[in-house]
Amino acid sequence: MSLNWEHRLTHNETNQPFLDVLSGTVMPVPPVWMMRQAGRYLPEYRDLRAKAGSFLDLCFTPEFAAEVTLQPIRRFNFDAAIIFSDILVVPHALGRSVRFEAGEGPRLDPLDTPDKIKTLSSAADFSILEPVYEALRRVRQELDRRITLIGFCGAPWTVATYMVAGQGTPDQAPARMLAYRDPTSFAKVIDVLVENSIEYLLGQLEAGADVLQIFDTWAGILPPREFERWSIEPTQRIVEGVLKKAPGTKIIGFPRGAGAMLPSYVDRTGVNGVSIDWAAEPSLIRERVQSKVAVQGNLDPLVLIAGGEALDRAIDDVLANYASGRFIFNLGHGIQPETPIAHVEQMLNRVRRHKT
Ligand code: CP3
Repeated sequence: MSLNWEHRLTHNETNQPFLDVLSGTVMPVPPVWMMRQAGRYLPEYRDLRAKAGSFLDLCFTPEFAAEVTLQPIRRFNFDAAIIFSDILVVPHALGRSVRFEAGEGPRLDPLDTPDKIKTLSSAADFSILEPVYEALRRVRQELDRRITLIGFCGAPWTVATYMVAGQGTPDQAPARMLAYRDPTSFAKVIDVLVENSIEYLLGQLEAGADVLQIFDTWAGILPPREFERWSIEPTQRIVEGVLKKAPGTKIIGFPRGAGAMLPSYVDRTGVNGVSIDWAAEPSLIRERVQSKVAVQGNLDPLVLIAGGEALDRAIDDVLANYASGRFIFNLGHGIQPETPIAHVEQMLNRVRRHKT
């Protein structure tokens, strides 16, 4: 792949508050965006979603994907836009036939035996992902230069949990079991995901992403030894692989539920920032995480549905815990479809009034 990084400006030239925080600056008012900010809580998203047909049609039609990426920016003027896609487009490009069934979440052909894993192709068909790159180019063109465009992928562990089980499960037991019973086969799935995720992330950078995020939604269900092997190590290899070709790229990790494993995740992966979930312990985060990298989070998405004084109190707690360090305000996980838009506005007003 030929790489052209010339269009990627340094944070000083772009003047993006979000990038400044990832470079170590403490902002008086933290930049803010929301995980899953383009989604079903927005009527304009639901309209376009109905027009597009399937969820993957929405992801792979650049005009539509660019439009839903920009919808929350127009409405709320967030400091970052995240490209509208899904972590499961990578297994899709690896030929694993991904479908999203209405109301049921993703469905894939289960990759749950060593024999099936032997047939897994080692290189994705990146032409399938070209519409994502085209959507990135369109969004970067339209987006105010001060707003950061985030490209992303799933961490190999999390993507593998869906590939093995063929769907989401409450505790991703099928992948955990396969990793115990046949670590060599499971490592092949992880290795294929590492290599193809590096390629995919570099493609997103070249298409206009300013920063990258790696979502490891299911990291927190692993015991420490497995966490090191299946979450930290593959993520570290992705960070290294991206930086080798695109030095200086800022990368955020999200090892959801990592708890007391977060400091070693940060030390060993080399990420520039971490998303934290709402159960994170503030003094551990401040002393052993925020002292080294930027922190992003961590309002409970449920309190954003509840609203009222409970929401004000929870926002103030997040700000009191983290806003005096390098900090990006976000939710601790994705916004839920039933969230009232007025509560998002209440959140933004309160965060943006904040001065350290
Ligand atoms: O944040 C954004 O606005 C960008 C888009 C985005 C989506 N998925 C769109 C989406 C991002 C960053 C993701 C990441 C993702 N996808 C993760 C990691 C982060 C997380 O939320 O934990 C995971 C585990 C997935 C896999 C996935 N995709 C599941 C389990 C589901 C079904 C659950 C659900 O929310 O419906 C999806 C579908 C999905 N991905 C939707 C959206 C907007 C809803 C589909 C729809 O609109 O019909």
